[in-house]
Amino acid sequence: MAGHIFSMTPKEVPKISTKHRLIKTAIPAPGTQDIFSRLDKVESRSMHGQLPLVWDKALDFSVFDIAGNKWIDFTSTIFVANVGHSNRRVTSAITETLEHPLFSCYAYANPLRAKYLEKLITFAGEPFQKAFLLSAGTEATEAAIKLMRMNGQKFGKRRRGIICIENNWHGRTLGAQMLSSNLGQREWIGYQDLDIHHIPFPYPWKLEGRSGQEFLEDGLNELAEKGINLMEDVCGFMLETFQGWGAVFYPKDFVQAIEKVCRSNGILLAFDEMQAGFGRTGQKFGYQHYDVTPDLLCTGKGMGGGVPLSGVIGRAEVMDLPDIGNMSSTHSANPLVCAAGLAVLEELESENLVRESARKGKIFREQLDSIQAEFPDHISWILGKGMIMAMLFKDPSTSNPDAQFTSKVAERCMQKGVLVVHTGRESIKLGPPLTITDEALLEGLAVIRESIAEIISE
Ligand SMILES: Cc1ncc(COP(=O)(O)O)c(C=O)c1O
Repeated sequence: MAGHIFSMTPKEVPKISTKHRLIKTAIPAPGTQDIFSRLDKVESRSMHGQLPLVWDKALDFSVFDIAGNKWIDFTSTIFVANVGHSNRRVTSAITETLEHPLFSCYAYANPLRAKYLEKLITFAGEPFQKAFLLSAGTEATEAAIKLMRMNGQKFGKRRRGIICIENNWHGRTLGAQMLSSNLGQREWIGYQDLDIHHIPFPYPWKLEGRSGQEFLEDGLNELAEKGINLMEDVCGFMLETFQGWGAVFYPKDFVQAIEKVCRSNGILLAFDEMQAGFGRTGQKFGYQHYDVTPDLLCTGKGMGGGVPLSGVIGRAEVMDLPDIGNMSSTHSANPLVCAAGLAVLEELESENLVRESARKGKIFREQLDSIQAEFPDHISWILGKGMIMAMLFKDPSTSNPDAQFTSKVAERCMQKGVLVVHTGRESIKLGPPLTITDEALLEGLAVIRESIAEIISE
């Protein structure tokens, strides 16, 4: 969230009281500054920089602060609360698990783990046969690197190469940072794995008349010029399902051409579905928008409905490559997270949340397009699918990205009772729980429209 520090000085703002929003204090609310100062003293700085409010509780699509203010949540924490915050089915499942005296059981067998994994594999569908559970998304990325490389080594010692896409993001551990091409964030490593290669991302504004397939060919030609041979050097292709900061999806033919390259060269195709999975984009998994079949899925965030649960899902022949004990983790498949994960899947199904995400996504899109039509000088792009959208802002005089204006929009929305994801760049990301009502969705979007209008008029 670099790039903007929000003011901690309480500001008198108009009071708001609707069915879905309550702003009854100055914002930041009384008590906020104190908690932030205490955290500043004892917690590493890297955790800070978010909007200045102190979360007290979150229920379904509402977030409440310590002063009793209430927001419509367009963040889902950070695309975690797909089934709604503190979902009742998830809460009951966790409570029931806690009442049964087995908090943790490492890799020792447990019936809940069997039940959850069976359900997860059924949910994922063909061609997925096995999963490996972890706690954080970045661990899933590391496990995927390992699986792709172990698979490559079956065919040749040189096959360690993994192709990734520039500016995609896969987490904060060593391998994940090397796959991510944020140079600033991986400077501390001091070297780059020479077998991790990046090709350009096909942003709509970078295509310049080229099809997705042609764009990919150009990227791969650059690798070939560097001496990288797909068949001899490359074991995997890692795609973030859409580029996070701006919810930027690839042209379909770009991804389909990648799939062809993978199939004809014996390369594994992995999707990082951390943000895109579990109904977020209007499909069970975001890769389904491209009509391709990946070999591996990295999942997390919404998978656990609020508890730390992530995983890698794939075909048995790939998932079984590591020897016994060579891919496990102390807390993986802990009974509590399995219970939560199971409840998430049951909730997605019983409430038809994947279909709902697609349906509400259309309303979302229509409204955002109309906001862009109202402020064409300030909004450059509306991007996304289903219940994950991004608005990109520009400076009207230069047309350059305008991160400062964007931060003001995020702050104003907060003052008016709507929480959006502040990316620190020229985008705000919008991803309400899939359970949000149409009424609250429309109210939240109206607030975004109002906030932009006010900032422009100032
Ligand atoms: C696409 C993507 N991959 C990986 C990660 C890392 O997940 P975690 O923060 O759970 O380690 C994130 C987190 O933001 C993400 O958005």
